[in-house]
Amino acid sequence: MKRNVIIDCDPGIDDSLALMLALSMEELNVVGITVVCGNSPVHMGTGNTGKILRFMNRLDVPVFAGAEAPLKREFADALDTHGRDGLGESFLPEAEGFCPKTGAVDFLAKTLREKPCSVIALGPLTNLALLYEQDQEAFGQMEELVSMGGNFRSHGNCSPVAEYNYWADPDGAAKVYQAMEEIGKKITMVGLDVTREIVLTPDLLAYLRRLNPEVGGFVEKITKFYFDFHWRQEHLIGCVINDPLAVAYFADRSLCDGFDAYTQVATDGLSTGQTVVDSMGFYGKRANSLVLTRTDPVRFFTMFFGRILGTDEKSLDLIPRLVRRETL
Ligand code: BDR
Ligand code: CA
Repeated sequence: MKRNVIIDCDPGIDDSLALMLALSMEELNVVGITVVCGNSPVHMGTGNTGKILRFMNRLDVPVFAGAEAPLKREFADALDTHGRDGLGESFLPEAEGFCPKTGAVDFLAKTLREKPCSVIALGPLTNLALLYEQDQEAFGQMEELVSMGGNFRSHGNCSPVAEYNYWADPDGAAKVYQAMEEIGKKITMVGLDVTREIVLTPDLLAYLRRLNPEVGGFVEKITKFYFDFHWRQEHLIGCVINDPLAVAYFADRSLCDGFDAYTQVATDGLSTGQTVVDSMGFYGKRANSLVLTRTDPVRFFTMFFGRILGTDEKSLDLIPRLVRRETL
């Protein structure tokens, strides 16, 4: 049975890849996309969502712009990572016929009250924190919340200890983790421990292009800047595509493994945005999170390519060797 899901995102290069994946999955019914300020200002992220929907021929999916600023902190975009247009400086034209609305939080509240629905959050948690402030009952009705963000053993990507989504709005993230504690549910933390394993390499990209020049060419266009950023920043030949793993995991639980824990997000000082995961049970508190720590990149890329290309996974025979970077 298809599961209803709202994707809350800040496109963003890897958010765009995640949207492509989500819209290609027959297990998911994407009932709407809500946009939050993060990688790009919210109007830019909304426009980028339209560009992806146009490419996927899915301009029918409703899109709602949300928070323009974090709960308390000043907004800090990540255009240095995602390019001046938030989409790898691909400068794709705006999508004709794309009619986004405002009111992301109202849309979340209304949908969650109306039907069983989960949320996959791929950006800062501001929209979700505002939902909790506005309508706790609707928040509590969320079937599941899967969030790309945070880190357990991995170092951060915005400070030594903090990951961007939670660093950009630590108060929003802290509120959502606290809210999960209050409603007695668990947020799934798809953090850097697992997403750092998901490296799109030049070889994988070349394979994608060989298999399907249109889709491969599109992915190449929006990721080129991201490849250059990773080379400059991390001395990595490839780019870490964080967000699609959250979507993939939502559809297939066997892709990642982790443990339940009580987690808080630090909101100030040196450790701003850090996920403080009580893996040893110091606080004796009930778990409010499932912290993912292991994943299988071969299986991820097989699913990712298979779905966005609409290809039988069995035919993707080169993926294991390309992911393991074995000489062909
Ligand atoms: C997260 O921050 C953004 O740059 C990515 O889109 C991802 O959601 C990784 O830290
Ligand atoms: Ca994102």
